[in-house]
Amino acid sequence: MGIEILRRACAILIGALLLPAVAAAQEQWSFPAGSSPAIIDRMVKVAQLRDGDVVVDLGSFDGRIVLGAVRSNPKVRGWGVDIEASLVAAANETAKKEGLADRAQFFHRNAFDVDLREVTVINMWLFRSLTQLLRPKILAEARPGTRVIVNGALIDNANMMGNWLPDRVDRGDGTQSPILVWVVPARVEGAWSWQLPLGGEARPYDLLVSQQFQVIEGHARVGNRRESVSEARLQGADISFVMEVTVEGVGRTRHAFSGKVDGDEIRGTVTVTPAEGKPQQLPWVARRGTAASWFRATGVSIK
Ligand SMILES: C[S@@+](CC[C@H](N)C(=O)[O-])C[C@H]1O[C@@H](n2cnc3c(N)ncnc32)[C@H](O)[C@@H]1O
Repeated sequence: MGIEILRRACAILIGALLLPAVAAAQEQWSFPAGSSPAIIDRMVKVAQLRDGDVVVDLGSFDGRIVLGAVRSNPKVRGWGVDIEASLVAAANETAKKEGLADRAQFFHRNAFDVDLREVTVINMWLFRSLTQLLRPKILAEARPGTRVIVNGALIDNANMMGNWLPDRVDRGDGTQSPILVWVVPARVEGAWSWQLPLGGEARPYDLLVSQQFQVIEGHARVGNRRESVSEARLQGADISFVMEVTVEGVGRTRHAFSGKVDGDEIRGTVTVTPAEGKPQQLPWVARRGTAASWFRATGVSIK
């Protein structure tokens, strides 16, 4: 009797351990071989490929995505990796036959073991779990502005990358598989400061930025005035926001900033529009530093 209970307990335990593997295997079997020609065309369009782009396909199957990309523009190159050696050989063979081997190469490698620093477009059609697990690697290695393109067939889900939501979803004519696009955001979290010449004086500006992927918020300080910024956008390295603030001696003033993030520096322009008077455009250079100036005492007596 005791042995029978033990035998049943073991059977249940083994079943529980095997279940996830069986489920994963079923998910694997439900994937068709590779993206259809129509999807490849749409992916190439959605990627908005331009001269000099470097396209990688993580899980490149027979090379069809990278080959489609390099065929579409003679100044685009790319490479793919797959865990299936025979698929890698077939992809390299096609590239050679079509005279594309100098611009399209395929390697027998795990998607986690590649270097994403020099690519500008990352393509994937993997399980949702794998797509999510590649997220930290993409965000750590890929440069700001890199487009990440995922075939959403069978795995359509806005949360495919967890709480990093896609920047765009292309649904074709509505009857086709969705194609999801993320743009790797620059890291802008922190305290930024700069000066602008307004009303004949150099004015100090401080901005605290908080960031969750491409979603940013900012809290500005100009002199002793603080305001939250509006219309804050971040797409790759391109940042823009609006600041409506009272500048001492100038009055209520609208500032529309736009620039490019490069590490701890932002360079761009600001259009400054006072409540009365003409807008003027000024160069804008912000640097990331400490938050000390944002928090410094106002020195204004409340007595
Ligand atoms: C659904 S196919 C997608 C093929 C291609 N990207 C396309 O859109 O046509 C997925 C491919 O990913 C490969 N794969 C799965 N896991 C991988 C991993 N960890 N590293 C590299 N390739 C992988 C599979 O062998 C398969 O060829």
